[in-house]
Amino acid sequence: MPEIILNGQPLQVPEDKNLLEILRGEGLRIPSLCYHPALSPAGVCKLCAVEVKTPGREPKVRLSCALRPKDGMEIRTDSAAVYDARVKAFQRLVQYAPESPVIRTLAEEYNIDLGPAPDECIRCRLCTRLCREIVGAGALTMKKVNGTEMVVPAEGNRCIGCGTCVNICPTGAIKLKDEGFFRTISIRDEIIGHNPLVRCEACGNLFATQKFLSRVEKTTDAHPHVKAHHQYCPTCAKLLSDRIQSVVPVKNNQPVQNAVPVNNTQPVQNPMAVKTVAPIQNVMAVKTVKPPQTGGDQ
Ligand code: SF4
Ligand code: FES
Repeated sequence: MPEIILNGQPLQVPEDKNLLEILRGEGLRIPSLCYHPALSPAGVCKLCAVEVKTPGREPKVRLSCALRPKDGMEIRTDSAAVYDARVKAFQRLVQYAPESPVIRTLAEEYNIDLGPAPDECIRCRLCTRLCREIVGAGALTMKKVNGTEMVVPAEGNRCIGCGTCVNICPTGAIKLKDEGFFRTISIRDEIIGHNPLVRCEACGNLFATQKFLSRVEKTTDAHPHVKAHHQYCPTCAKLLSDRIQSVVPVKNNQPVQNAVPVNNTQPVQNPMAVKTVAPIQNVMAVKTVKPPQTGGDQ
């Protein structure tokens, strides 16, 4: 039975086992991800590195899964060289599988910081600018996390659950989930907003958050099609609209004056509709009646 020196202590060990099993048998924690006792060692993950000094040679970092004990071997599992080798091994592995929770959790157990996991975010700041400048909620902000700029929820539960950041994000880094009676907006595993949904007054479907509807009511005029602030989902708002489809008949490149709106030949009964039948001002109509330009007139 060979005798080795393990972290300064002599120890008789079986010669038919590899060092990784021997060390673990002694209660030492050694990380590994590619070792399986039923298979021959491949030495791929390189996490099981230990420092080994054989008589007459300089100490060297070696893979314990692929090493058999020899008489007089000195093994260190806690040296700076071992730590450095583990850091390198973890960093290499996380490049292959950047989001792997197994690698990240294992690294954490060995006090190795692999930095934040990638999150699909390209730091374009569209979401933070939009939420601050247009939505006015300021629910997202940039913050340095472990030396890396990241989009994080701003303090104070500001999200109104509009989902505009989700729509504008070019990479899909921000997620929206409507589940039960709640809308959750998140980035990575961080929740930006978790807000209750309200039902459409017409169809009864849950469709928007109350915070969002209140913000719309405060900051915009009444919906032109329904004349008042109602909690209608977009589909019902369209269906319930009593607007008149004003289509300008065009004859000889001239608009027909006092055109009666198509689809409604009856006298208009409500003030909104009256507004709609006033002379048509819209850009499309103007474009249609513009006389053709000729080069010689200029
Ligand atoms: S989360 Fe999306 S929108 Fe926001 S900075 Fe990252 S990539 Fe841009
Ligand atoms: S356990 Fe993976 S290299 Fe040793």
